[in-house]
Amino acid sequence: MKIFLDTGSLKDIESFAALGIVDGVTTNPSLMAKESGDPRAIIKKICEIVRGPVSAEVLATDAAGMISEGRDLATIDEHVVVKLPFGKEGLKACRALAGEKVRVNMTLIFSATQALLCAKVGAAYVSPFIGRLDDIATEGMNLIEEIVDIFQNYAFTTEVLVASVRHPVHVVQAARLGADVCTCPPAVVESMFKHPLTDIGLKRFLEDWEKAQAKRS
Ligand code: E4P
Repeated sequence: MKIFLDTGSLKDIESFAALGIVDGVTTNPSLMAKESGDPRAIIKKICEIVRGPVSAEVLATDAAGMISEGRDLATIDEHVVVKLPFGKEGLKACRALAGEKVRVNMTLIFSATQALLCAKVGAAYVSPFIGRLDDIATEGMNLIEEIVDIFQNYAFTTEVLVASVRHPVHVVQAARLGADVCTCPPAVVESMFKHPLTDIGLKRFLEDWEKAQAKRS
């Protein structure tokens, strides 16, 4: 499973990319609003760091506007994936951009039927938001299971990108279900490294070594 970082923070992207674990990045208007500086320049810099798919979201809400904004975003770097909000306008724009070989990530997916429609018009990715479903007392991971099942039945090339990830258990569940990508906030990636027994084990190894050295001297 590919791991994308769900952030616009260059500092976080640089630090995790240096570990070789970042396959791509997703951004959205809320994430980009937290960063200072020119959004285009930030997207360009992210592409240069990760050299993998970087989702940049349009702000237009009509198909013509999304197509024109999408074309423009795609000129920033070859790694840019245009992110479009789901809906009839989004689908129209997705079909047009996909026809021009612009990769599209359809966002704000909350049902399997929405994901199926995106796959039919050539989306490169669908982004089901599992955390926001969990927030309203619905099991978000059930949606991933449904979409993965459906896509496996057909020759769709659309990848399932698990979004709105809140904790490392979501990452494990996504991987067990065979999702193509899981996009994680930096704090979730950080938590994937941690286990108290690793820290305790290392401390004990070093203490035992030091004790043995002290006895010898
Ligand atoms: C990424 O593509 C999504 O925009 C993001 O994961 C949404 O996450 P949130 O529900 O935590 O805002």
